[in-house]
Amino acid sequence: MKLLVTGGAGYIGSVVALQLLKAGHEVAVLDNLSKGHEEAVPEGAELVRADLLDAERLAETLAGGYDGVLHFAALSLVGESVEQPERYYRANVVGTLNLLDAMRDAGVPRLVFSSTAAVYGEPDEVPIPETAPTRPTNPYGGAKLAADQLISFHTKAHRLKTTSLRYFNVAGASGALGEDHEPETHLIPLVLSAALGERENIKIFGTDYPTPDGTPVRDYIHVEDLGRAHLLALEAADEAETGEHRVYNLGNGSGFSVREVIEAACEVTGRSIQAVEAPRRTGDPAMLVASSRKIREELGWKPEKPSLEAMISDAWDWMQKYPRGYDE
Ligand code: UFG
Repeated sequence: MKLLVTGGAGYIGSVVALQLLKAGHEVAVLDNLSKGHEEAVPEGAELVRADLLDAERLAETLAGGYDGVLHFAALSLVGESVEQPERYYRANVVGTLNLLDAMRDAGVPRLVFSSTAAVYGEPDEVPIPETAPTRPTNPYGGAKLAADQLISFHTKAHRLKTTSLRYFNVAGASGALGEDHEPETHLIPLVLSAALGERENIKIFGTDYPTPDGTPVRDYIHVEDLGRAHLLALEAADEAETGEHRVYNLGNGSGFSVREVIEAACEVTGRSIQAVEAPRRTGDPAMLVASSRKIREELGWKPEKPSLEAMISDAWDWMQKYPRGYDE
């Protein structure tokens, strides 16, 4: 298939772009490079440097004729979204609307969208099924939920075949592709940079949550396992009804607390990591663990690297190999 990957210069998008190329697809990456890295765009993929808010450029690009779009491009920092909700709704909702407009006009039938566990907010039950109420606790989750709803209605009205994958916490690396955010706010890369001695310590944001050790619990998924789900979703569109928007949660179904992640990182790296207790971070739910039963049953997805140690170890290898990320 000829596929457009928005955000394909970012952490997850670049891994998926490479997996698509390896599976024999033709891939173009559309990225404004505000967060992504040109070096992360896999060899063999064409790079279109454009912003989703530039509707004209999008229309021109999509007019090139595509069989499908994988839509990763987004702003994704929970804390920042609390400070600047309007920016998050513009990028993540208006950007998605522009993309859908351009897809409709160009007759592109398939879409796989990067949604998030943040749409659920503070869940009533864990593991969280797709049928759980959606009550986002921050603008990032709110904007992604609005985009999910927009995709649903658009899919029905314009007879598309679409899938939203609701990611839980993505970690690990894939060969030369890894996590390099500026600023970095994610737990695992920050813990590892403390292990490398690049920062003095790791702050634990909140120790008074209603969880076994008082620190928030998350479901970590390896970026390669997450990537494979996109290929399955794309293939499944062949058998799907037109007008169908599918939603799948993507995690491993087991939760690890912030303290457990730090302990695992000490073991994997063999280094001591100083942890400092700090106040809660605004917008953080206590516990997010996925039920991935639906995607396992319907698409046959199965994680190959479900262990936290494997994710931390792959991220650690990547950081040691590329201590300055893509800057080198
Ligand atoms: N944390 C710390 N110290 C740090 C960084 C993080 O204690 O220095 C804690 C956070 O407070 C949170 C946990 O570690 O409790 C995980 O935080 P991350 O920032 O790594 O990830 P989030 O769970 O906040 O968010 C991630 C993605 C979102 C996605 C969400 C879905 O960044 O895009 O997972 O679960 F929506």
